[in-house]
Amino acid sequence: MNPVKIPTVSAHTSRTLAIIGQGYVGLPLAMAAVDAGWSVIGIDNFESKVAQINSGISPVEDIPDAQLKVALASGAYKASTEFSMVAQASVITICVPTPLDDNREPDLSLLKSAANAIAPFVSNETLVVSESTSYPGTLRDIIIPIVESSKPKESFNIYFASAPERVNPADPVWNQKNTPRLVGAINSASKHKALDFYESICDKVISVLSPEVAEAAKLLENTFRLVNIALINEFTQLCASTGINVNEVIDAASSKPYGFMPFRPGVGVGGHCIPVDPLYLTWWARQNGERAQFIETADSINNSMPRYIARRALNMIDASVTKPRVLILGVAYKPGVSDVRETPVSELCEYLRAQGAEVGWHDPLVSAFEDSEPVELEWACDVAILATRQPGMDIEFLIAKGVQILDCTNSIKNQPGAISI
Ligand SMILES: NC(=O)c1ccc[n+]([C@@H]2O[C@H](COP(=O)([O-])OP(=O)(O)OC[C@H]3O[C@@H](n4cnc5c(N)ncnc54)[C@H](O)[C@@H]3O)[C@@H](O)[C@H]2O)c1
Repeated sequence: MNPVKIPTVSAHTSRTLAIIGQGYVGLPLAMAAVDAGWSVIGIDNFESKVAQINSGISPVEDIPDAQLKVALASGAYKASTEFSMVAQASVITICVPTPLDDNREPDLSLLKSAANAIAPFVSNETLVVSESTSYPGTLRDIIIPIVESSKPKESFNIYFASAPERVNPADPVWNQKNTPRLVGAINSASKHKALDFYESICDKVISVLSPEVAEAAKLLENTFRLVNIALINEFTQLCASTGINVNEVIDAASSKPYGFMPFRPGVGVGGHCIPVDPLYLTWWARQNGERAQFIETADSINNSMPRYIARRALNMIDASVTKPRVLILGVAYKPGVSDVRETPVSELCEYLRAQGAEVGWHDPLVSAFEDSEPVELEWACDVAILATRQPGMDIEFLIAKGVQILDCTNSIKNQPGAISI
């Protein structure tokens, strides 16, 4: 059935790692593994991305071109679209997106297609790890059956583990190496293989009882953030209605040395994780006959924020202006990245336009957004909404020009014309 020959046993003892998906998770992992002495094959099915990476241009802000070029030049790293290359690997990690579908339910199609694509080439004694975020049971119920049913017949012994990635793009402190890594494996042999692998890359590896514990822990971590952000977003609306500056309240509460952790309000939540992962949890709860009401409420509060921000900004404009011009500052979902996936700014723009506003946007890290081009900071506007404070954004220029700014980032202090949400 499958004509591909698996390599000799030497491959199984080699330090060759194949990573499926070369994005925000896969590429930093590749560089960390190269640093740890691994030979890395970065597989991605997006041809132009593979070509870009192989030409030394990093698609991920946290990986400088210089670092990528050194890894490529040393021969320790190469990107490819060829899934058959995983046959050379003793470890394969899957780092592909796990988004939501049109019904806002888990869409595992990319994860399944990655598992299907590697399966015919997995060598005997290989460790297969899922780093993608998903609901508990994904490794055991989805990935393992796919790999086991299509692997070469000589590959009788495959090891499996789940080690959800915790990378925080643009974080100046925490990275692949110094962020503790959770590992949950399906059996003792898989556990030892997985611990060996991650201990070669990460400073601290924590073995948990099962893949399901690791998968659930990852969802808990991001859901914790979602509900706390929702609490602060709701609290912001309560404070604003009575003229209290919520950020001053958060600063005051933060003086308590225990039992309080500051979260800040904003336009909503964005990116591939915080707005998405908790919905994997709500879906998983429904599959088990439960309901995650608290998380559903938090999700809907965060989703209401773009409208709330739009109304606040429009209220800052003189009522005589019939076609208000609103400048959005920062469209990426957080500072320091060009990633616009799930950015709440989309909803903000949509609502402003529905209210008859003309919307321009400016983001030094984003060149195109929803089929539109950015505008310069000189763009004449009635109000600006600071949604994401990107590095290199010249807010002082707007302040000096006397532009009214609604600051959703708590980054403008005591400036005339700027008010905080
Ligand atoms: N971005 C984050 O901050 C972050 C943090 C922790 C965990 N995660 C999780 O890690 C996973 C990957 O996220 P990401 O942000 O790196 O995504 P990404 O979109 O940045 O990168 C994924 C890459 O996988 C490629 N790809 C998609 N399907 C493929 C397939 N079938 N075969 C080969 N390549 C394929 C895409 O072309 C893309 O380059 C997700 O489950 C995400 O939830 C992301």
